[in-house]
Amino acid sequence: MRTSYTLLDRILHWALAFSILFILLTVFLRLNWMEKNHMAAILTDGLSNIDIDITKEQAIKIAKQIRKPMFDWHLTIGYIAAGIFVLRIIYNATKKNLYNPKTSKEKFQLWVYRGFYILLGFTLISGLMIKFGPDFLHDVSEEIHKLTLFYIIPFLILHFSGIIIAEFGSKKGIVSKMIGGEK
Ligand code: HEM
Ligand code: HEM
Repeated sequence: MRTSYTLLDRILHWALAFSILFILLTVFLRLNWMEKNHMAAILTDGLSNIDIDITKEQAIKIAKQIRKPMFDWHLTIGYIAAGIFVLRIIYNATKKNLYNPKTSKEKFQLWVYRGFYILLGFTLISGLMIKFGPDFLHDVSEEIHKLTLFYIIPFLILHFSGIIIAEFGSKKGIVSKMIGGEK
C-alpha cells in the first residue's frame, strides 16, 4: 500500500507498538497473576498458616497496595501513548496522498488502520477521563475503557497474521522496511 516509511513513520510506529504491548502486559498482570482477589486469597492463606487472621477486606486492601506500583506503569506509558497518538495524527495530516489504495485488499487494510486509530482514540480519552474527568463520568469512562480488549486483541491477531502472510508472500521484506525504511 505504501512504498516506503519515513524515519518519523517508523519511530512513531514502533514507539506506539511497544507502548501498547507494554500497556497490555500491565492489563494481563492485573487480570491474572496480580488479580486482587487472587492475591488476597494467597495472603489470607499464608497468614492463617502462621495463626494470623485477617479479613477479606484487609487482604484485598494489601493486594491493591502490591498491585499499585505495577499498574502505575499503565498510566505512565498510557500518557506517552496518548502523546504518540497525537503526533501521529498531526504528522499524517501534513502528508498529501498518504495512502492510495487500489485493490479491495488495500482498501480493507486502510480501513482497519483507520478504525484502529478511531477506537484507540476512545481508549485514550476514556482512560484520561477515568483520571481527570468529572466524577459523574467516572464509571461510564471505566466501562468504555475496559472494552478496549475487544478490539485491540483482534487487531493484533489480524496485524501479525497479515504481516506474516505479506512477508512470506507478495511483500517480502515488509518487516525490514518498517525497521530500516529501505525500499
Ligand atoms: C511487533 C511486531 C510488529 C511488526 C513486525 C509490525 C509491522 C508493521 C508493518 C510492516 C506495517 C506496514 C503495513 C502496511 O503498510 O500495509 C505496520 C503498520 C501498522 N502497525 Fe504494526 N507491527 C508490529 C506491531 C504493531 C503493534 C503492537 C501495533 C499497535 C497495537 C501496530 C500498529 C500498526 C498500525 C496502526 C499500522 C498502520 C501504520 C501506522 O500507523 O504506523 N503494529 N506494522
Ligand atoms: C494504549 C492505551 C491503553 C490501553 C490499550 C488500555 C487498556 C486498558 C484495559 C484493557 C483496562 C482494563 C483492565 C481491567 O479490566 O481491569 C485498563 C484499565 C485502566 N486504564 Fe487503561 N489503557 C490505555 C491507556 C490508558 C490511559 C492513557 C489511562 C489514563 C491515564 C488509563 C487508565 C486506566 C485505569 C485507571 C484503569 C483501571 C480501571 C479500573 O479501575 O477498573 N489507561 N486499561
